Order: sequence, then C-alpha cells, then structure tokens
Amino acid sequence: TKNYDYLIVGAGPFGMIFAYEAAKRGKKSLIVEKRPYIAGNTHTHTEHGITVHDFGAHIFHTDNKEVWDYVRQFANFNGFQNQVVANYQGTLYNLPFNMNTFYQMWGTKTPDEAKAKIEAQKTAALTDLGDRQPRNLEEQAISLIGTDIYEKLIKGYTEKQWGRKATELPAFIIKRLPVRFIYDNNYFNHRYQGIPVGGYTQIFENMLAQSNGLVDVLTDTDFFDHKETLLAEFPRVLYTGMIDQFFDYQFGELEYRSLRFEHQVIDSDNYQGNAVINYTDAETPYTRVMEWKHFDGVSDQGKTIVTKEYPQAWSREKEAYYPVNDDKNTQIYKQYAQEARKHHPEIIFGGRLGKYRYFDMDQVFNDAFNTVREEFSIAQEFNFAHD
Ligand code: UD1
Repeated sequence: TKNYDYLIVGAGPFGMIFAYEAAKRGKKSLIVEKRPYIAGNTHTHTEHGITVHDFGAHIFHTDNKEVWDYVRQFANFNGFQNQVVANYQGTLYNLPFNMNTFYQMWGTKTPDEAKAKIEAQKTAALTDLGDRQPRNLEEQAISLIGTDIYEKLIKGYTEKQWGRKATELPAFIIKRLPVRFIYDNNYFNHRYQGIPVGGYTQIFENMLAQSNGLVDVLTDTDFFDHKETLLAEFPRVLYTGMIDQFFDYQFGELEYRSLRFEHQVIDSDNYQGNAVINYTDAETPYTRVMEWKHFDGVSDQGKTIVTKEYPQAWSREKEAYYPVNDDKNTQIYKQYAQEARKHHPEIIFGGRLGKYRYFDMDQVFNDAFNTVREEFSIAQEFNFAHD
C-alpha cells in the first residue's frame, strides 16, 4: 500500500470520478467497495437485451453543461425524456402537474381557469398562511397546487415514500417537482436529459480503463473491517459512506429511508406502455412500477422486465437510499460535519451518504468536480474533458 496517494471508500460516482481525475494527474488510488461491483446505486445490468437499473430508475438530467459534456465522454446517451403517468385508484393522470393534469382533474382548459381553481382551493385550505413561508410539505403542496391534487397525487405517494406524515416533512422535497401552466409532461425542467445506452456501469468501467493502471478496486471489501489499519496507512482518504457510521454514531444515528425492489420478467412485448407509472394512493404498497425497455427501447422479442419499488424502513443491515433532511437530522449532521472539519482535515467526505444530502446524479458529479478542483488547485474554468 506504500505507493498509493489516496484511499477511496466506496466505488459510487463520487469516488470513481475522484479516482479517475487523480489518475489523470499521476496520483494512485485504492478503492475499497463493500458490494461485489462498482457504480454504487447507479449500477445496471442487462438481461434479455434490456438494461435494468438495479437500484431504481436513474435518469440523467442537468442544466450543467460541464457535467453533461463530461459524462458523455464515457457513454452514448439516448434522448429519453421522463414522462410519468400517475394511477390513483384506477384513474390515470399525467405528471408532473401541468395543463394535462388540470384538465384530467377538473376539466379546465386554460391557464387562467386552472389558476383560479388552485387559488380557490389554496385559500379555503390554508386560512392562516398569510405571507409566511409554508412550514411543511403539506402546506407547500397545497399552496402550489390546491387540495384535489394534493389529496390524490401527492399525499399518499409522499407518505408511502418517506414513511411519515406530509406535515412532518420538509417543504423543499415537493418544490423540486415542476408545476406548469402549459401542456408539457416532461418530468424535469433541465435542458439536458437522457439515459446511457447500455447502462451506467460502463461509465465507471470506462473511467477505470482510462486510468493508466493508477486505480485499483477491491470489491467485497468493507472498510469498517479494516478501518484502523487503513486509516493508519493512508495519509489522504476520500470517504463516501455514511458519515455517522464513520464516527461510530457518537452524535446519534442519522435517519435514512430504504427501498426494496421486486424485479419480474414477463412474457410480453409491452406490459404497461410507459417507463414509469406512479401509484399515488395510500393503499398500494409500492410507489411506482418501472418497465425498463421503455427507457431505451431495445429488448428481446416477447420479453419485458418490470420492477416494483417498495419503500421500507431503514435499519443498519438495509441499504440507505434517502437521507431524511428534516431539522433533527440536519442538527445531527452538522455535528458530524464539524467533527470532520476539526479533527479529520485529512479526510474528504463526499457523495450522498458522506454529505447526507438528497443529491441528484448531476449534483454528485458537480460536487466531485469541485472536490477535484480544490484538491488539485485547479482554476474554476478548468475543462475536464480536454485536460
Ligand atoms: C428525486 C428527483 C430526481 C433526483 C432524485 C435523487 C424530483 C422530481 N425527482 O427523485 O430528479 O434525481 O430525487 O435522489 O425531484 N411526488 C408526489 N407524487 C408523485 C411523484 C412525486 O407527491 O406522483 C412528490 C413526493 O413528495 C416525492 C417528491 O415529489 O417525495 C419527489 O418525487 P420522486 O420523483 O419520487 O423523487 P425521486 O425518485 O426520489
């Protein structure tokens, strides 16, 4: 281990990008990954000619041209645009909330009619709102979109996904969903959107292949089985696991939400007619059903693969998916972040679990770029693609 410059804990996007960029600067990294493969939760595999996202739908979407140019060095992206359909007790609606949804819900045909409907529902439900900011997800949702849509398309889905009442969730979660007064079902507002043809894993395999032999990966290797030895041997560490676990939970356990996926191969050319269908009632135990062939339009004849996504409580032996960024956890996280700054300047904490943030993929890429810039003192305009 003497000639490694970096120990990297976790072979997800953050760790892989850092290792690749370090290699371009002649620095050698050892990556330890507890799972049997790289790519973290973006991991994909191909079956019956269909690329399956093993940890839920990953749609790359961004406004950041640097990120978009960068990621496309490692794969070809298709022109997929996410257009989600919601099923509420057997009735279908278009998402995100737009003129199609309003027409289906109320029969309104113009933006003014839809706005009047929303305004009336908002005023009736939120009598004490006045000029203050919405205090929680329920208030935020009703003030954006009114009570009908909140009750049918938001409440059940959100409470299933997060395992708690919408009144106990932060408002910012729902702010991410577009509300549009045009007939446009694109789930995202970003300029660039797509899925890598053949899946995400190849992106990180290609990074490794282009690292001049300066990146070694040990899969099936849990950092915590060797923590003291590894920290003693490596002067510089990038850690992308759960920050509370790193500090042995000394300020308390951070909460996460977990997911369970049920994959099914079906003898059909086309099972549900869309990539993603959300089940927005409280009773259906899953939140959404993905049909993978519709993400990139290729497959064996007569076969399709469908995945149901079930939210579940998190405990230490389950995968942590979503950080629960409410006040309580934010306070706990701050203590860990401060401990890291004060006592471990030699360790970089990064990624969704290391930073305890509800990150999109493009945000992880951007954050990794910033870490690389800082680590190697690179100016802001630095162009990764042509270094
Ligand atoms: C979200 C982001 C995605 C990002 C990912 C990173 C949105 C819309 N999606 O996906 O861009 O890459 O996190 O982890 O921001 N909601 C409803 N009813 C619905 C669908 C959504 O109420 O039918 C609300 C819920 O409160 C939900 C929130 O919108 O928690 C986010 O929606 P969802 O698309 O399920 O989030 P993710 O899949 O986590």
